[in-house]
Amino acid sequence: MKFQEIKNNIYYCGLNDCDRRIFDELIPLEHGTSYNSYLVKGSEKTALIDTMYPPKAKEYLKRLAENQIGKIDYIIANHGEQDHTGSIPALLEKYPNAIVVTNPKCAENIKSMLHVAEDKIRVIADGEELSLGNKTLKFIFAPGVHWPDTMFTYIKEDNVLCTCDFLGAHYTFNDVFAVECDALMKSAKRYYAEIMMPFRMMSERYTKMVKEMNVDMILPSHGPVHTNPNYILDLYTEWTSPSPKNLVALPYVSMYESTKEMVDYLANKLEAKGIEVFKFDIVDDDLGDLAMALVDAASIVLGTSMVLAGPHPTAVNVTYLASVLRPKAKFGTIIGSYGWGGKLFDILVTLLAPLKLDLIEPLMIKGKPKAEDFAKLDEIAESLYEKHKSIGLL
Ligand code: FEO
Repeated sequence: MKFQEIKNNIYYCGLNDCDRRIFDELIPLEHGTSYNSYLVKGSEKTALIDTMYPPKAKEYLKRLAENQIGKIDYIIANHGEQDHTGSIPALLEKYPNAIVVTNPKCAENIKSMLHVAEDKIRVIADGEELSLGNKTLKFIFAPGVHWPDTMFTYIKEDNVLCTCDFLGAHYTFNDVFAVECDALMKSAKRYYAEIMMPFRMMSERYTKMVKEMNVDMILPSHGPVHTNPNYILDLYTEWTSPSPKNLVALPYVSMYESTKEMVDYLANKLEAKGIEVFKFDIVDDDLGDLAMALVDAASIVLGTSMVLAGPHPTAVNVTYLASVLRPKAKFGTIIGSYGWGGKLFDILVTLLAPLKLDLIEPLMIKGKPKAEDFAKLDEIAESLYEKHKSIGLL
């Protein structure tokens, strides 16, 4: 298949992975993903910006050969993770005169993880430029979105910016240019939640920086090319904002419906007070939907049954995930039910500590909720209402 030209001798040479159902063995993908690679043909030199996920290397190399690209002078590695660099050793075998161009941290990663020889790597500095003849690549270090080794590559004459994983989406396409729609927005949000939200403040900073650059196009490493950069930049402006929305994320697991009864009761009470609630069945629902809710939620309420004198292991898993994703939530609590006894909250409170939530007194009951338990849930609903009101959400 012929490579699609994006702009003035800049071509898309990545691949879709329509069958991929999960990334990082963590969050399900609704629309597969793409591994983007861009071929930039200058009047004197040719550069390949990012490469390919190793299981797709054979197909990638075949397509490069079919497109008769000739020589490759430079392989630009914007970041060392192997979905973008894993094919560098195979590329260097096929194109032995190519030199990998990257930043110092990424160079170390490529050397240690992929065993690329030092003399095949040219290390550049932040802001350094590389001439391809009539095109110039400028390297902009962007540590923290999302690895310490991440950088962007700006193609000056064409005013396009390759943003690596930043501003991407796990999404597949026939035409490389973004068609702005709900499905793309949700894929980008799910992706942001898992990959960028843990570094929200850095993401906020680089969103502002890219906006100020006023580029014509954004070429990310996953998902479609944005010819209207403000579409994805405005979404990132909203997601990275420190202000949460009037939303309670309520993940729960319930063995005998007692916890579920508490969750449903509390959710109804909150909704009656004008607070949006996202209930999430930890066992059956899609973790990506919870991650997306965590992008916006002002509060997190965990509901869990007790297993073997402790919280249900799936609740521990979700609490840990919520903790490492570092959402902007400000308030929280835990509710749950036990059978014969034990400690329901200690592990969960410890796991939630990095989020520095303002925690409301948790509620643990024995078996099914009684009138006095419903009264305590009323108090939790009222406390959450007051907390949301205190930060201007109501
Ligand atoms: Fe898509 Fe951080 O690699």
